[in-house]
Amino acid sequence: MKRVLIATEKPFAPAAVKQIAGIFEEAGYEVRLLEKYAAKADLLDAVKDVQAMIVRSDIVDREVLEAATELKVVVRAGSGFDNLDLVACTEKGVVAMNTPGQNSNAVAELAIGMMIFMARGNFKGGSGSELKGKTVGVYGCGNIGRRVARIAQGLGMKVVALDPCVTKVSMEPYEVKVVQSVNDLFSQSDYLSLHIPSNEKTKKSVNFELMNKMPKGATIINTARKEVIDEDGLRKMLEERPDFKYISDIAPSCHDELAEKFEFRYYSTPKKQGAETSEANVNAGVAAAEQIVAFFENGDQTYRVNKSLS
Ligand code: 3PG
Repeated sequence: MKRVLIATEKPFAPAAVKQIAGIFEEAGYEVRLLEKYAAKADLLDAVKDVQAMIVRSDIVDREVLEAATELKVVVRAGSGFDNLDLVACTEKGVVAMNTPGQNSNAVAELAIGMMIFMARGNFKGGSGSELKGKTVGVYGCGNIGRRVARIAQGLGMKVVALDPCVTKVSMEPYEVKVVQSVNDLFSQSDYLSLHIPSNEKTKKSVNFELMNKMPKGATIINTARKEVIDEDGLRKMLEERPDFKYISDIAPSCHDELAEKFEFRYYSTPKKQGAETSEANVNAGVAAAEQIVAFFENGDQTYRVNKSLS
C-alpha cells in the first residue's frame, strides 16, 4: 500500500483535507497528516517511510529528502516552488511538481484588496483615493498576474504588464498594454503588483533605483515573495519618498522597524495568507492528490518542475 504524507505547517482548510484524503482512500493509499509542526525533526520523522508527499510552503531541502528514503514524488500544492530543493530532488530520483493556477484567484483577490486597503488609509478613517482611472503595473503575467489584470480592468483601472520570462503573446487576450522594459513598467504604475517568482535572476531585483521611477503617490503590492525586494532599497525608498507606500503578504526581515516608522505607508500581513481560502485549499490540495495518483497509476508527470536524471 502506498503511503502519502500531507505535511503542512500551515494546514489546509478541513474541507480540503477531507477531499484530499477521499481521493487517496479511493486509490487504496494510506494518508498521514502532519499539521502545524513546529520542529523540523517532526517533518524528518514523518517523511521516513512515505512514497509521496504534499506540502505548501514547507521547506523540502536536501536533509528532508535524505530522510525520505522511499519518496518518489513531492507535490507543492500551490504555485511557487522555491521551497523545494529541485537539484536534490533530481539527484534522489524524486519527481517534484506544483499545481499551477489552482490558488491564483485567492492571491489575485488579496492583491486587489491590498490596493484598496492602502488607498483607503488602512481602513482607519479619513479621506482616501479610488483605484478607478489609476494604472496598475502587473509584473509577472502568469495565472495570478493575468487574474489581477482582469479584476483591475473591472474596477476601471488601466493595466500595463511585463513578464521577464513570458512573451507578449500571452497577454494579448487580456487587452493590456505590454511594456518593453522594467523601467517603463515601474515609471507608468500608480500601483505595482508583484507576481514574479523568487529565483537567482529575480532576488533583490526590485531595488531603490527601480522603485524610485514610480510616480508620486505610488504603491507596491507584494503577494509574491519577500526575496524579490531589496530590503535596504525599500527602507531607503520609504525614508526618501514620503509619498510612497508598500504592502506585502510576506513580511520583510526589517518588518518591525518599517511598521514602527512608516505607519499607513507600510503594512504586512502577520502570516502569508494569499492562498488562505477554503476554495484555494480545495483546488490546490485536490489537484495535488490527483497528480500523485496519476503519477503512480499512469506515470503522469505533467506538472513536473525538476529535471530528470536521464
Ligand atoms: C504559492 O506559491 O502557491 C503561494 O505563495 C501560496 O503559498 P502557501 O500555500 O504557503 O499559502
